[in-house]
Amino acid sequence: VEEHSLDRDCTTLSRHVLQQLKSFSADAQDLSALMNRIALAAKIISRRLSRADLVEGALGFTGNVNVQGESVKKMDAYANDVFISVFKQSGLVCRLASEEMEKPYYIPENCPIGRYSLIYDPIDGSSNVDINLNIGSIFAIRRQQGDDIDGEATDLLQDGHQQIAAGYVIYGPSTMLVYSIGTGVHAFTLDPSLGEFILSQENMQVPDHGPVYSVNEGNFWQWDESIRDYIRYVHRHEGYTARYSGALVGDFHRILCQGGVFIYPGTVKKPEGKLRLLYETAPLAFLIEQAGGRASTGTENLMDVVPEKLHTRTPLIIGSKEDVALVESFIQERT
Ligand code: AHG
Ligand code: MN
Ligand code: MN
Ligand code: MN
Repeated sequence: VEEHSLDRDCTTLSRHVLQQLKSFSADAQDLSALMNRIALAAKIISRRLSRADLVEGALGFTGNVNVQGESVKKMDAYANDVFISVFKQSGLVCRLASEEMEKPYYIPENCPIGRYSLIYDPIDGSSNVDINLNIGSIFAIRRQQGDDIDGEATDLLQDGHQQIAAGYVIYGPSTMLVYSIGTGVHAFTLDPSLGEFILSQENMQVPDHGPVYSVNEGNFWQWDESIRDYIRYVHRHEGYTARYSGALVGDFHRILCQGGVFIYPGTVKKPEGKLRLLYETAPLAFLIEQAGGRASTGTENLMDVVPEKLHTRTPLIIGSKEDVALVESFIQERT
């Protein structure tokens, strides 16, 4: 076995975090252990997804409706619980906020306060679960500030610069975990024979321009005219290709790798759009900026948006800086 491949097989996520931080401080060790737990959650979810149709009760709906007004799938609920379970007895995360929970969940034995909060979308792209298409999990880590005695988690209602780590898992042909702690974007691929996420790409950079535009054109007539103008532009010009999978994580990953832009605009009825800030758009905004790209609501940098509520939604224009700027130019023309 060549030396480098042995060393590479040992570059697990927890080791990589310490390498990136160039520190063995308590905080660095905490973050390393935290990322290791997220990797465990990803492995447990990936295991179930990889043979979901063979697992009694894994697919289909729970019959419940979540705070978003969406019908909750069994996989949504399962994945939500996995993240909670992997942080018990960890002493790391005191509070978890998720798309699937109206209020945050507290792990009492991990508190006192002053620890980390995990904010996550346990299964992103739920509509793809029953048809075996790519889905994801999205996460962000923030410090818990203040006592939060009322459980209102008001300290989470701050802009994206409060994120100390962010990332996603993409459950595709291979399961990959892509993360950043502010020192670039790095990808790990799950080697099922080892049961470990192994470093596969370091310092991922999104191209300044790319051919892909990713948007659900079924909403064409619900958008502002400015977005329709942009779509007409790419329809008329060579060099653009449409890709849309119905799962934000998969569409984002393609943009990160190949360049281009993903857009989920507001509509006339819902100007704030569909995607949620704390566990969808802000974590991806953190990543894309670390990869040399941009994320915007159309009128402001997404990393600067301060949520009013835990489940605040924002429009999303994210990807290559030239492509994001082009979309914004159509919006500015009409304001
Ligand atoms: P989730 O499954 O976590 O609720 O997220 C679904 C989101 C996102 O993954 C995707 O980009 C978007 O919903 C698709 O929405 P449309 O079906 O309206 O295009
Ligand atoms: Mn959902
Ligand atoms: Mn989602
Ligand atoms: Mn979800």
